[in-house]
Amino acid sequence: MDLMNTYKQYPYKMIKGEGNYLIDENGKRYLDFLSGIAVNPLGYGNKKIENAIIEQAKNLIHASNYFYTKTPLALAKLLVDNTCFDKVFFANSGAEANEGAIKLARKYSELKYSIDRNVIISFTNSFHGRTLATLTATGQDSFHQHFFPLPDGFKYCPFGDIKALESMLDDNICAIIIEPIQGEGGINIAEKDFLFEMKKLAEKKDILLIFDEVQTGIGRTGNLFAYQGIGIEPDILTSAKALGGGLPLGAFMAKEKVANALVPGDHGSTFGGNPVACASGCAVLETILEPGFLDSMNKVAGYFKGELLKLVEKYSVIKEFRGKGLMCGLELNIDGADFVKAAFEKGLIINCTNVRVLRFLPPLTIKKEEIDILIEFLDGELKKRSVA
Ligand SMILES: Cc1ncc(COP(=O)(O)O)c(C=O)c1O
Repeated sequence: MDLMNTYKQYPYKMIKGEGNYLIDENGKRYLDFLSGIAVNPLGYGNKKIENAIIEQAKNLIHASNYFYTKTPLALAKLLVDNTCFDKVFFANSGAEANEGAIKLARKYSELKYSIDRNVIISFTNSFHGRTLATLTATGQDSFHQHFFPLPDGFKYCPFGDIKALESMLDDNICAIIIEPIQGEGGINIAEKDFLFEMKKLAEKKDILLIFDEVQTGIGRTGNLFAYQGIGIEPDILTSAKALGGGLPLGAFMAKEKVANALVPGDHGSTFGGNPVACASGCAVLETILEPGFLDSMNKVAGYFKGELLKLVEKYSVIKEFRGKGLMCGLELNIDGADFVKAAFEKGLIINCTNVRVLRFLPPLTIKKEEIDILIEFLDGELKKRSVA
């Protein structure tokens, strides 16, 4: 293989996707409970996405950000109309969206206070990306190894510890970045009380609150963005993954008073807001925002949770269920890697994160009968691994 050795890849090539299934070169079908790591929100072969991509590609694939083009404007409008934010910047990935958010927070803070007020607080077990700044913001030592020196200006707070956070908020802090539900860290849900207290503290000191919704966003937790289900408004929000419907697209959004800190020359991206990716993004958002879409997804998610909870009751090798909407995890008392392998052999794609957490991020179009297939598999595997 000519690719760098950065991923543990499965031995078979995937050549097609259909509904909620991936299909490999031998024609074997895999029911997908990972959706390209929280990407393909409408499964595979969605006609609206396909047609939007084809139409845009026929007209214009790329023009550069020296020009306005139609689909980034349309997607920005959809995002602004359906969130508390006033302005959008398009990037190509989650890491880039977070990089931009960090730059925006620092510029805002420098203009309003001083160049020394530049420190970003993030949380233990967080994941914000693989570029050097977002890797540094990522609160897991294992990701930092081998890549020193890391950029200055980042501090870590224990996830959910309001007292620790309060004690860290000195005059050098400009922003706090948090995933409302930590994805890579093992589906860890930030308590509502903690988030409300954090918002109060941040507001009092004009410290910006950045919600990294790269994984939680675009309907996955039951609202377009998770903050809408929590009831507090961050100052900056980052999105990616499902935003482009499978094409590389990220964004950071902010309220006007914050967004205005950036002026021409401060930030940019050659491909950011690519018209084809944005056409796909418009198709995704229009579908998810259709009346009833999220209601039916939430019903299916409720069913999924109920079925997973039955397994928690039944098997002591499961420590607990955690999740919201279609972002769910089962923390086990044993390693999860064997489950992932067994699932793949049976034609099911699941994932394990943080060693013991089985993570489920199906397309938002997953059906009850497809959930039943996963539950039957898990039931069988858990039975095998339980003490008689
Ligand atoms: C919460 C969160 N932020 C940022 C990222 C980085 O996104 P990307 O891989 O698109 O750079 C991820 C990726 O898993 C993520 O889950």
